[in-house]
Amino acid sequence: MITGRYPTLRLRRNRKFSWTRRLLRENDLSTNDLILPIFLTDGKNKKTMIKSMPGVFRYSVDLIPSVIDKALKNKIPMVAFFPNTSKKYKNIFGTEALNENNLICKALQITKKKYKNEIGLMTDVALDPYTSHGHDGLLKNSKILNDETIEILVKQSLLQAEMGSDVLAPSDMMDGRIGKIRKALDKEKFHDVQILSYAVKYASNFYGPFRDAVGSKSILKGDKKTYQMDFSNSLEAIREVSLDIKEGADFIMIKPGMPYLDIITTIRNNFKIPVFAYQVSGEYSLIKNGIQKKLISHNAIIESLMCFKRAGASAIVTYFANDIANELN
Ligand code: PBG
Repeated sequence: MITGRYPTLRLRRNRKFSWTRRLLRENDLSTNDLILPIFLTDGKNKKTMIKSMPGVFRYSVDLIPSVIDKALKNKIPMVAFFPNTSKKYKNIFGTEALNENNLICKALQITKKKYKNEIGLMTDVALDPYTSHGHDGLLKNSKILNDETIEILVKQSLLQAEMGSDVLAPSDMMDGRIGKIRKALDKEKFHDVQILSYAVKYASNFYGPFRDAVGSKSILKGDKKTYQMDFSNSLEAIREVSLDIKEGADFIMIKPGMPYLDIITTIRNNFKIPVFAYQVSGEYSLIKNGIQKKLISHNAIIESLMCFKRAGASAIVTYFANDIANELN
C-alpha cells in the first residue's frame, strides 16, 4: 500500500484550476468583514491630505455623507470616526473630549440622523486627540493617571452614546475602564450600546502615520509604554482579554494587526468572544508605498487582509476598506 504519498498523492491536483481552488478555499473575505476608519477635520467642504498616509484624507463633517454613501454601497457594516482636533482646542486635561460640539459629536449627530441604523458608528474612547501632550490619559509628574483618567473616559463614553455612537471603542488601555463604562451605560439606560474593547493594544512603532493624521505625533511627550503592552508578551494578552470579558466587553480588538497574528489565534483559541483586528496606519502606509513604488502588486492588499481571517479574526479595521470593496464584492 503506497497511499498517502507521492506519486499516488499529489497536492497540486487540488490547485489545478480556479474552480478547484475556489471550491477548496478555507477562508473567505468580504466587505462584511471590514470597518472603515474616517478622519475628521474642522471647516466646511474640506478634504485634506495626510502626508504619511497616501490615499487617506481628513474630511470636514459636511463631507462625511459622501464617504458613508460609498461605504454603504460597498456593504461595509461599520465606520469608525477619529478627529483631528485643532491645536487651539487641546489642553493638558483633554477637555475638548467632553465638548458636545466637538468633531466626533457633530459627526455622530449628522450621520445618526441621516442613516439611522443602516450603518454602524464606532467611536474611539481615549484622550489622545484632545490632550496637548498627546497621551491617552491625564499626565501628572510624568505619570499617566489611571483612575482619574477613567472618570473622564466614562463621561466621554456617555456623551458619545448620547450622540448616537453604536460601538464605543476604548483604546486607552487604562485598567478597569471597561467595567466602569459598562456600569455607567447601564445606569443611563444605554443597554444596547456595544463596547469594543481594545483589550490587547501594544506599544507599537506602527502607529506613526495615525498620530500624524490626528495631529498628536509632533506633540507626544515620551512614549506609551506604561499603559500599552510590551510587544514581547503574549500571556499578558490572555489576562487582558479575560478581564475585559468579565467587565462587560461585547467584542475585543487586537492591535496592531499583521505583526500580531499569533495573538489573534491565541485569543481565538482561548475565548468564545468575537475578535477584531486592526490593520494600523503604519501597516497601511508600508503596503501602499510598496504598491505605489511598484515593489509589490496591488493584490498584496487582499493577501494582507485574508491573513486576519486565517488567524481567526471576525472583522478587520482597515484603511483599505473602500478601495478594495469592488474587488471583493
Ligand atoms: C489612540 C489610538 C491610536 C490608534 C488608534 N487609537 C494610536 C496610539 O495609541 O497612539 C492607532 C491606529 C493606527 O495606527 O492606525 N487612542
